[in-house]
Amino acid sequence: MQIGPYTLTSKLLLAPMAGITDPPFRRVCKQFGAGLATSEMLTSDINLWDSKKSTHRLPHAGEAEPRSVQIAGTDPKMMAMAAELSIEKGAQIIDINMGCPAKKVCNKAAGSALMQDPETVKAIIKAVTKTSSVPVTLKMRTGWSRKNRNAIEIAKIAEQHNISALSVHGRTRQDAYLGYAEYETIRRVKSAVQIPVIANGDLRHKEDLKFVLDYTGVDGLMIGRAAQGQPWIFQRYNKLLETGVLPADLSFDQKSNIIIDHIKHIHLLFGEKTGVRIARKHIGWYLQKLGYSTEIKKIIFGYQHPEAQVQALENVLGNPPNEEKV
Ligand SMILES: Cc1cc2nc3c(=O)[nH]c(=O)nc-3n(C[C@H](O)[C@H](O)[C@H](O)COP(=O)(O)O)c2cc1C
Repeated sequence: MQIGPYTLTSKLLLAPMAGITDPPFRRVCKQFGAGLATSEMLTSDINLWDSKKSTHRLPHAGEAEPRSVQIAGTDPKMMAMAAELSIEKGAQIIDINMGCPAKKVCNKAAGSALMQDPETVKAIIKAVTKTSSVPVTLKMRTGWSRKNRNAIEIAKIAEQHNISALSVHGRTRQDAYLGYAEYETIRRVKSAVQIPVIANGDLRHKEDLKFVLDYTGVDGLMIGRAAQGQPWIFQRYNKLLETGVLPADLSFDQKSNIIIDHIKHIHLLFGEKTGVRIARKHIGWYLQKLGYSTEIKKIIFGYQHPEAQVQALENVLGNPPNEEKV
């Protein structure tokens, strides 16, 4: 799949997830074959960028290319300035967030709430694409509400104003994360525009991938929650798409090494206190996927220091449970 000058190495992309797709998680997903891993959304208010949180959302030295940064906001000028500054700081692709239903974002009518105001959408896209020297992509939902699935209208605006690729989560803003994603609107978006379209939403099982690719005709697939606790999923699913056969799962030892390495990178980047806290979330998903009990997770969650947390995790991984949950 092509985004501007960038040929992605895989059509499987990691979905941006605030609080999750930080540099260490993006790193491990890219290492295991994600074609692109966009940063968590960054506010368009650049006055807030000095905060540690925002700094971690910007590209990091040594991050694999292409580096995509997502920005969220409502004011075209501020969005353009945020894009410019992100590019200065190393972004090679700018992604505009019109997919997030979170109240924090939507109270300011940003994220997916913007979809009810196509004129503002147009103004934001025009302002950002005009000032950006790099490709600009757009992430959106199928519409504002179930009665108002206007993704096609927004997709056409995006195409007319130089958006390089579109990702569409198969839910409306009203749906939040309820029910199941639908792919019919995504299929219609794909046939309404010429730019690359990426389908997103509930892509978990191996059957989902081929079904959605065939049904919608999209150029790429974006995986979010299914990558939590199993970033190696990209490697296996890439092979599945290449060969039609899902390769054998990684060995327990291979997974253990990846997990420990990921957790150490979290500690390194976020420091002692925040690092241990952020690591707990990922450790929880890893242990759950590996089939450990909640009790074991709770024990590890009790450790407050990075070395102790890693040591406890190594001890637990030294005693594999009987079955893994995939
Ligand atoms: C915890 C969490 C945080 C998210 N943060 C963002 C975000 O910052 N920007 C965005 O565009 N979408 C965000 N999303 C939406 C995801 O990118 C994706 O569209 C959604 O999870 C559906 O894909 P999935 O079913 O593969 O998880 C978030 C989702 C979750 C679960």
